[in-house]
Amino acid sequence: SEKYPYLKRSQSFKKLSDEDISYFKSILSPSGVSQDEEDLEAFNNDWMQKYRGQSKIVLKPSSTEQMSKVLKYCNDNKLAVVPQGGNTGLVGGGVPVFDEIIISTANMSTIRSFDSMSGALVCDAGCILEVLDNYLAENGYIMPLDLGAKGSCHIGGNVATNAGGLRLLRYGSLHGTVLGLEVVLPDGTILDNLSTLRKDNTGYDLKQLFIGSEGTLGIITGVSIMAPKRSKAVNVALLGLSTFEQVQAAYKRSKDELSEILSAFEFFDQASIELVKKHLAAGNNDPLEAIHPFYVLIETSGSNKDHDDEKLSNYLEGLLTDEIVQDGVVAQDTTQFKNLWAIREGITEACAKTGSVYKYDLSIPVPVFYQMVEDMRARLDQQGVLGQGKAVECVVGFGHIGDGNLHLNIPAKGYSEAITDIIEPYVYEWTAKYNGSISSEHGLGLFKSPHLHYSKSPSMIQLMKRVKTMMDPNGIMNPYKYLPEN
Ligand code: FAD
Ligand code: MLT
Ligand code: ZN
Repeated sequence: SEKYPYLKRSQSFKKLSDEDISYFKSILSPSGVSQDEEDLEAFNNDWMQKYRGQSKIVLKPSSTEQMSKVLKYCNDNKLAVVPQGGNTGLVGGGVPVFDEIIISTANMSTIRSFDSMSGALVCDAGCILEVLDNYLAENGYIMPLDLGAKGSCHIGGNVATNAGGLRLLRYGSLHGTVLGLEVVLPDGTILDNLSTLRKDNTGYDLKQLFIGSEGTLGIITGVSIMAPKRSKAVNVALLGLSTFEQVQAAYKRSKDELSEILSAFEFFDQASIELVKKHLAAGNNDPLEAIHPFYVLIETSGSNKDHDDEKLSNYLEGLLTDEIVQDGVVAQDTTQFKNLWAIREGITEACAKTGSVYKYDLSIPVPVFYQMVEDMRARLDQQGVLGQGKAVECVVGFGHIGDGNLHLNIPAKGYSEAITDIIEPYVYEWTAKYNGSISSEHGLGLFKSPHLHYSKSPSMIQLMKRVKTMMDPNGIMNPYKYLPEN
């Protein structure tokens, strides 16, 4: 795992005592307090096995009232905490840095209500995204977000990170689809804002502060979210292309020709498919005959199958005739639909199989997406660290074309300062040159907090720090992360 010698445990936080443990046991159910070492392993280590904390306890409140009591006690006693959902975050935000108490939403997973007229879903923060989506499917609705981690991530974690994912192109960000939140503040106050209203212009929109706040201001315990109707007709196509210019041309045309039925436009490169084929069963389901330098996965969702099929086949025929794509396949059934998505969704796991992966999640203009990937390849190559048997296996580019979000992944044998120094701050400077964002959708966590200044001005960072101090005066909420120390 990564080391962070620049961080010191803050002396302002108290160490966990037997008295504290007795208090937690007195207010939580037996399954709500765990000190079991094996159990703690999973909570102390992140999904990438990159960040590792040393917490001695995980608390799992099963109600908002319990959460309020826990946080109030921690705040009164200056015990630092780290909120945790499904622990699928990719920036080291959900695991402790030192001995922070882990507060998990795992025991809060009740669906509270669903309005089949408006599509407003109200649920506990610990509901798993896929469980919610399956529940909505039975009612003819769909979650407005989807990600490869759907089987483990919690909706509270999604909101806390402002997760983007595979459907953002169609349904927009959580800043638009979240209708209300229930949040417990560090002093135990329960902020009851579980509105199901689509429109409400009464006062500051406080819920927006918590969307993307990564557990630094309070713990989200309930979420009200607007679910769209599930489309009756859904198609997915996988295309093979020769150049990134062709990827852009295909995207431009998709906006013209598929317009209102377009629900995803994802791209990945040859290095991505090669890793998926090497490491995952999903790779065996690539229906295209040859390996291509670039791939595009297009999804359409609409209400009339004949209409959508005709539009998609005209679009694809046009791309083939004009030699924008070299090959393409449209899923013929649900299995193939899932198989094609599994290739795209598997890239994250395939990248991680090498052992370690340097992950950059950047907003930059689409026309320079692949220049970034190629520049990074050239840079690592020049330093003699790139290639089979070397420290860095390959450089992978994929992401959400429709959202201007490039995922630059660098699978390596291990995390080392030497490799980091080749990549950073180069990657951040490159991004800042285009007024881009050093974190499009994964958040800041422990990984990106020191680099925030590449995307936000000093006055904005100062105001963020004032908000943090006002809402969490003792600084117990997810310390050492999110905002830069100085
Ligand atoms: P955790 O990892 O447990 O926590 C994440 C952060 O939120 C931490 O800072 C934590 O302290 C805080 N937090 C968690 N719960 C709460 C709460 N209830 N209240 C306050 N703070 C809280 N992300 C994307 O944006 N798009 C993707 O397409 C995407 N795909 C992914 C695919 C894979 C295979 C994996 C492993 C990850 C992917 N991610 C993606 C990243 C990750 O899944 C998301 O960031 C997700 O939203 C995290 O949810 P979680 O419940 O796992 O949160
Ligand atoms: C994705 O788009 O697959 C996710 O953001 C995860 C990742 O970047 O690895
Ligand atoms: Zn993504």
